[in-house]
Formats: sequence, C-alpha cells, structure tokens
Amino acid sequence: MTTQRTNYLYPAVGMGLILSAIIFVVVLVPRWTFRPPQPKDYRDYTAQEQRGRTIYRREGCWYCHSMASRPQDWDHGPKSKASDYFYDHDGHLLGSERSGPDLANIGGKFPDEYHKLHHNNPRYVKPGSIMPRYDYLTEQELTDLTAFLQGNGPNGTRALDVHTGEMKWARFTKVYNPELGKDEEVAVWKHGVEEREAIVAAAYESHPETPFKYTAEIEELLYGTTHEAQNAKPALSQLIEKAFENDKALEKAREEDALVSGWNEISFREPEAMPTDTVEAGKVEKRRTVANQGRGLFNNQCSACHGLDGNGHGWAAPSMTRRPANFWEDKFANYKTDTWFWRISRGVPATQMPRWEFTLKPDQRLYLAAFLKYVAQNKGLGKLKGMPLPDQIPLPSAAAPARAVAAK
Ligand code: HEC
Ligand code: HEC
Repeated sequence: MTTQRTNYLYPAVGMGLILSAIIFVVVLVPRWTFRPPQPKDYRDYTAQEQRGRTIYRREGCWYCHSMASRPQDWDHGPKSKASDYFYDHDGHLLGSERSGPDLANIGGKFPDEYHKLHHNNPRYVKPGSIMPRYDYLTEQELTDLTAFLQGNGPNGTRALDVHTGEMKWARFTKVYNPELGKDEEVAVWKHGVEEREAIVAAAYESHPETPFKYTAEIEELLYGTTHEAQNAKPALSQLIEKAFENDKALEKAREEDALVSGWNEISFREPEAMPTDTVEAGKVEKRRTVANQGRGLFNNQCSACHGLDGNGHGWAAPSMTRRPANFWEDKFANYKTDTWFWRISRGVPATQMPRWEFTLKPDQRLYLAAFLKYVAQNKGLGKLKGMPLPDQIPLPSAAAPARAVAAK
C-alpha cells in the first residue's frame, strides 16, 4: 500500500517541476529579457486614449471586435505588425471573435461625430446592426472611446512618420476636461474631414490586397457574367459610376438605355389624373414601381435620419447638430438623377450623411435616386403603395378585450 502512494507522489512532483520549468522558460524569461525596439511608426497613448482603451475593455467591445488584421483578411486595411501593440502596457485587446468588423485600422476611417452617433445607437447609421447601443456612456467617455479608436492603424492619430518621427495625422492640443476640472493634452486631427477622407481613401486604395470601397471593377468581377448573359452590355449603373470621371460615358449610357434617359428627362411628378392611353399609364406605373423599389432600401438605410417619408424627421435627427435633409424642400424637385446619385455616393462632408459608395452597390444607389426624385417632386410618398406610415397604422381599439382579462 505505501509503495503505491509513493508511486503517485514522484510523478506528481516531477510533472509539477516540468510545468514550472515550461512556464519559467516561455513566460517569465521572455518577460524579463524580451526588449523589442521602440517602434518608429507609433507614439504612446495619451491619457485620454488610455481611458478610451479602458472603456473599450470594460464594455466588452473585444467580445465582438478583433484588433488584428491578418494577411488573408479582405477590406480590413493594412496587416497588423508587432509594433502596433508595443504601447499596450496593460495587456492586448486582440479579440478572437468577429461579430463586427476588425478595428485595427479604424483610425481616420470615419469622422469623430460618426463614431459618437454610432455608439449612441448603431442603428442610426447601420440599420439592422446587432451592435448594442452605448447611450449610457457620458459625453466624456464617448470622447475618450472615440479618441482611442481614432488612434488605431497607419492612418490613425497615433501614427508617426517613419522618416521624421513626427506625428503624421494629428497634433497635440490642450482641451478642457470637465471631469478632471483642468486642461489636458489630447491628439486632434491635423486636417479637415474632407481632406482626411481623401488621404485615407488614397492610402487604402494603394493597398491592392485590401480594397476599401466597392468599385465597379469588383462588381464586374463578381457579377460580370450574369450581366453579360442577360444583357450583353455593361450594367448601366457601372457606366454612370464611370461618368464621374468621364461625361461622355454618361451620354453613351443615356443613348443606350431609355430608362436612364427617362430618369433624367421625364418628370416623376404624379399626373392630375391617370392617362387614358394604356402606354402612358404604363409609364406612370413603371416610374412608381422603380421608386418603390428604392423605397425599401430607403426605409432600411436612410429613414432613421431622413424619416420614412423623406421629410428629415427621422428618430435620430434630433441628436444631430446639422439636421438631415428634408427632401420636400422645393430645391430638391429640380435635382437630376445624376445629382441624387452623386450626393448619395459621396455623402455630405462634415455632416453625418455617410458616403454610401462604400456600402451600397451602384444599382442600389440608382434605385434610391429614383425614390428620392419621386418624393421630392411629389412632396411625399404620393401614390406609392407599400408599408403605411406609423401614424396611418390604426391603433388597437380601447374596446377590444385585453388578453389578461379574457384569461381570467
Ligand atoms: C454584439 C457584438 C458587438 C459589440 C459588443 C460591439 N460591437 Fe461594434 N460592431 C458590431 C457589428 C455587428 C458591427 C457592424 C455593423 C455596424 O457598423 O453597426 C459593428 C461595428 C462597429 C464599428 C464600425 C466599424 C466599421 O468599419 O464600420 C465600430 C467603430 C465599432 N463597432 C466599435 C465598437 C465599440 C467601441 C464597442 C464597445 C463600446 C463595440 N463596437 C461593441 C458588433 C458589436
Ligand atoms: C446618420 C444620419 C443619416 C443617414 C443614415 C442618411 N443621411 Fe442623408 N443626410 C444626413 C445629413 C445630416 C445630411 C446633410 C444635410 C445638409 O446638407 O445640411 C444629409 C444629406 C443627404 C442628401 C443631400 C441633400 C442635398 O442637400 O444635396 C441626400 C441626397 C441624402 N442625404 C440621401 C440619403 C440617402 C439616400 C440615405 C440612405 C442610403 C441617407 N441619406 C442616409 C444624414 C443622414
């Protein structure tokens, strides 16, 4: 019996020693001896960014977001390097799950105001988003969190010029912090929003393995055969997209397809009475159908700000300093399809109006243009059929017996 017990003791002690030796060699020794060179391309976190990092960890953002862009990742910006993590004094926030996009290169991708709005309620800018709302964070916490996010990646405010060691995109300034009751040093962007967006877009585009936006070329790659099989010519929306660079292409597109020239020349205004001529009536119906197709997208992507009927009274509108456009205003009745398409694609710089060319396909933006043209010219949803507006849905009548009462 006693011999049996010693038989357990020796292997146990032996295994314990081996385990300690492994921990000593792979954990402790590197901790004491591994001194990587200080990176030339990043600076340390400011106190504000460090607070933002703490909030990021505390709120569990890393459950859904990773912070490491791998070579095989598409559309996540440049690959992450060891130096990106040099200044993580209190552990890394790599994350292992990607319920949301990777945030390693998020810096500079959106204006600060976009982040704050998105954190308040992600559905404001990404309808259908599963990301929780963080509207309980204080204004200061939102600012700190945004500062942390904006620092990330080679276009972030923490990026340094490798040659000069100077800050690349940001400068330091003193800003009064009401929570501390004194000024503190924070990093702010060197450039205006518009200039910064151009720099960032150019930087992303110079990484061919990580396309930043959904270009017509990529669409052709993905859908080209289907379009060709059906149509034997490039999709019109692609031609219109190209027309930003070349007016002639747009002329050609108009000649080639009656529908697009129709969108440009034919009014979307509802006639006083439905034409008796069946061909003319068919055209009216066709325009309604096209506008209605854009309406579905509009409900999903735009109504939070612009309102379901496009009059600018979406539920997110009150939180914005620059209110969303009201498409019932007279000037919009004169917008051409191209103008609508261009505005939707490029967004409105320095406002929360996103650049939809990054997320919506050209065809989708065309349908939206048709819908907005209809709304602007008819000052509302006119004769469009479909989802009723909230105030048109009849409320349950007070006389109807409540279920709880009926159960008793
Ligand atoms: C339940 C999972 C989840 C959690 C938790 C979460 N997110 Fe998200 N996040 C998402 C999803 C999904 C998206 C993509 C849709 C969208 O933009 O809302 C997203 C998008 C984002 C984006 C935009 C990225 C881009 O390139 O468009 C940012 C920035 C972001 N989240 C930051 C945060 C921060 C900061 C926190 C913590 C305060 C957080 N997220 C918590 C799921 C999550
Ligand atoms: C986060 C809120 C928000 C969302 C979502 C949003 N917009 Fe906007 N939109 C704005 C704001 C703010 C403006 C700027 C108004 C101004 O110029 O003062 C604007 C302006 C516009 C304009 C320009 C009007 C002009 O003056 O030329 C168009 C067109 C437009 N939005 C269409 C859309 C479409 C289409 C969608 C959905 C695909 C959309 N918007 C989604 C906030 C939003």
